[in-house]
Amino acid sequence: MAASTSITFTGAQAPQKGTAIFLTDKKLQLGPLAASLDKASGERFAPAARIKQFGGAARKALEIVAPAGVELERIVFLGVGDEVPTGRMDWLRLGGAAAKLLPREGEASIILQDPAGDYPSAEAAAAFALGIMLRRYRFDRYKSQKKDEEEKRGPVNLTIGVAHPEKAEAAWKVEAAVNEGVELSRDLVNEPANVLGPVEFARKLEGLAQSGLKVEVLDEKALAKLGMRALLGVAQGSERPPRVVTLTWNGGKAKERPIAFVGKGVVFDTGGISIKPASGMEDMKGDMGGAAAVAGVMLALAARKAKVNAVGIVGLVENMPDGKAQRPGDIVTSLSGKTIEVINTDAEGRLVLADLMTHIQKTAKPEAMIDLATLTGAIIVALGHHHAGLFANDDRLAEDILLAGKETGERAWRMPLGEEYDKLIDSKNADMKNVGGRWGGSITAAQFLQRFVENGTAWAHLDVAGTAMGSPSSDTNESWASGYGVRLLDQFVRERYERGSH
Ligand code: BES
Ligand code: MN
Ligand code: ZN
Repeated sequence: MAASTSITFTGAQAPQKGTAIFLTDKKLQLGPLAASLDKASGERFAPAARIKQFGGAARKALEIVAPAGVELERIVFLGVGDEVPTGRMDWLRLGGAAAKLLPREGEASIILQDPAGDYPSAEAAAAFALGIMLRRYRFDRYKSQKKDEEEKRGPVNLTIGVAHPEKAEAAWKVEAAVNEGVELSRDLVNEPANVLGPVEFARKLEGLAQSGLKVEVLDEKALAKLGMRALLGVAQGSERPPRVVTLTWNGGKAKERPIAFVGKGVVFDTGGISIKPASGMEDMKGDMGGAAAVAGVMLALAARKAKVNAVGIVGLVENMPDGKAQRPGDIVTSLSGKTIEVINTDAEGRLVLADLMTHIQKTAKPEAMIDLATLTGAIIVALGHHHAGLFANDDRLAEDILLAGKETGERAWRMPLGEEYDKLIDSKNADMKNVGGRWGGSITAAQFLQRFVENGTAWAHLDVAGTAMGSPSSDTNESWASGYGVRLLDQFVRERYERGSH
């Protein structure tokens, strides 16, 4: 929902109007295009660029009003540090910094020429553009009055100067698809629960059919018929009925088993009868961050026509306390046939995921399965907001996810699983209980999920409670919702399934 920003690429040419942004390094050297512009102005801005505090440090900027003789309004120097970056991640972050330098409205150009006169690769330029779009995102749908000038944004037409514009344009098409996925995910997480209930969420996903995804929605009746009683138990305290949605993208070879993504979609988590304290409860509108990531990555894969077979499934419910709500001590029979004693109705995410996992394994026979869930407060205690907790029964799957995390900056940190933890969720009255006591809460939650993995399917669980929402401002995001998981899983798919298939 960024105010409209159009990005086009051009070849090496001097910018004509509006804002012009040039790269410079710690030695404050200018590339040929900037240098010739400087000459045209009687070498007015080169001395200004030498101002010490700026120093050309990475992602720092120096802005000057365009001197007479130059048909521009503003000239901005964006520092790259010691030298121009090489990695995609650095270009992404540099793009994020550049986003802050754009005018409120109108024309802007960014010349990606370095002091040596060279330009980044098409992929790097596209990553730079993605960084700009990610940083420009904001959720202001409900702000009827914009306060300061910066908030009153109009359309911006941005031209990025590169060596081979057609190649950059093609690479940008791919990243623009990823950006669409991240925006969708952020919008869903930011949207309040009065607007986004299970039915509304499902309707939104139905709209993704436009992008080429196959969308199937299961309503309450269908869920009851299937026997998803663990999921239904969570939903039964809400006036709003649950939905389960599957999104399918078949871009790979016909016989190849799909990768499955499973998302927790609790549109609001009051805790149910085991109700949460009032303070901070508003954040529980984001308890569908896993489902939002699944929706976002599926959209990205479809929009960029990824060469992979993928299926996403999300469980959309609201966890509320009312006269019909599930009680502590209730025992439910999950779709798998396993029985669960619900000790704490606030440990609801795992109940939802259990039935989704059973269903998707049976219907899609996935090659591997990754679930994403804002599952435990304990993972925020352990890892804060900068790593998601990763649990896996398969080392290669875990390594692939960790690597994609490093490549995208959506990092994960592997956590342990083990028998000793698994024992903690044994129940006297049923096959298992839904909580494992005070310690290692993220691990016992993962152990619970692992009990629903069938015949050794490669499985990974990402606990995104700390990373999907309540995000600290970064080079690539200023919004409460981060869209965590979309770029991570898109990259995971590129490396694990698409490398060499092009
Ligand atoms: N949705 C919460 C976890 C959560 C907490 C997400 C904070 C984001 C921020 C989850 O359903 C929950 O309530 N978990 C409980 C589990 C406990 C009852 C075993 C928790 O973490 O306290
Ligand atoms: Mn809860
Ligand atoms: Zn929850």
